[in-house]
Amino acid sequence: MSSMRKIRGFSDIMGAEARKFRLMEETASTVFSRYGYDELRLPLLERTELFARSIGSDTDVVQKEMFTFPDRKGRYVTLRPEATAGAVRAYIENKLYAGQNLTKLFTVGPMFRYERPQKGRQRQFHQVNAEAFGSASPLLDAEMVLMLWTYLSELGLTNLTLQINSLGCRECQPEYARRLQEYLRDTEADDFCSDCSERRERNPLRLLDCKQTQCQELMHEAPSMLDCLCENCRPHFNTVLDNLQRMGIDYEVNSRLVRGLDYYQRTTFEVMSGEIGAQSSVAGGGRYDDLVRQLGGPDHPAIGFACGMERLSLLLDDPAPAETDFYVAILDGEGLPEGMRVCEGLRRNGLRGEMSYETASLKSQIRHADRIGARYCIFLGREELESGRLTVRDMGSGEQYNREAEALPEFLGR
Ligand code: HAM
Repeated sequence: MSSMRKIRGFSDIMGAEARKFRLMEETASTVFSRYGYDELRLPLLERTELFARSIGSDTDVVQKEMFTFPDRKGRYVTLRPEATAGAVRAYIENKLYAGQNLTKLFTVGPMFRYERPQKGRQRQFHQVNAEAFGSASPLLDAEMVLMLWTYLSELGLTNLTLQINSLGCRECQPEYARRLQEYLRDTEADDFCSDCSERRERNPLRLLDCKQTQCQELMHEAPSMLDCLCENCRPHFNTVLDNLQRMGIDYEVNSRLVRGLDYYQRTTFEVMSGEIGAQSSVAGGGRYDDLVRQLGGPDHPAIGFACGMERLSLLLDDPAPAETDFYVAILDGEGLPEGMRVCEGLRRNGLRGEMSYETASLKSQIRHADRIGARYCIFLGREELESGRLTVRDMGSGEQYNREAEALPEFLGR
């Protein structure tokens, strides 16, 4: 029996949850297209190397969380743990930059990370992603955050906080790493968790987002990236903040916000909710100005974000299911073909409803119409077949009318 059960950390999305997912997807498409974004659908499976080279081999995602396996020819492939790496690959491979300065894409779908499942954390989860390639302008950073904020507001989510930071560029990041290493020199390797003691020489930035209390305490007094920003990154960050302020978006600057992936530079941001427990980050993103070049493409800067749909779903009210307009109740077996014709005529006029495939008593048919929430129940018995006028019962008021089939779409229309 257990082999017929779903795999731990994977879920079936149905009912109200599926309606929330549809709402998130449709709102993304509507809002993002206003900002010039086009949809991109990416493969779920990519070569493992793509993720190792982009997300970074020192990150938790690559070291511990990827679903990686050899294909039938022994080549290693990975179920995508995020969408940015695939989007960059697609941008380069399809030369999406040809003939335009700016390429704006959004993508929605499942991601896979082998993490410990808990509320708001699954092994197969879903993201709404937006990525923009080709501009380093701080206005694009501000617009990206604004678009994310607009998306969340249109979903009706308000009680959220935005944290923002700058991680500097390839000029100033090495200086910050050097200062961090100097700071770390006074600490004992054993005082850190095993990951951090391994990463502290190679990739000291990663120590800033370790979740272990002992590491967080040791990093408490660590130097701030914001003190190391170069003469280009500082005004860039200030312009991002000025524009957010001008657009009425509240933010908190958090100089510890390094995010868990290696490709980030300059602006990084995260949106949190205090209402969904420990996994409080509902969206995160930032610039990855060097990634396109590092993966063999042109030297094009880029920025993006991703929202976790399961986490947004925890904050959304259940959307009401679509209303059912009618139910065609067949009281006489000979009425079945006519019932189907009536039903189809109504559906072709945009009305929503069902029919009974078998005859049943009047009482049980009315009960069924009630159960599916139909506004009207249409009866087809011997009398109706002979007269050509159907009995229509308004399920709200209980009043009954007689109408010809051809008049029904208008009668039932809203
Ligand atoms: P991320 O911070 O790893 O960034 O993930 C973005 C969001 O996905 C998180 O804020 C969270 O809501 C959701 N998420 C992550 N892991 C899980 C999980 N195991 N279960 C449920 N939800 C989860 C990225 O993925 C970057 N690619 C974002 C980005 C796009 N940066 C630039 N462009």
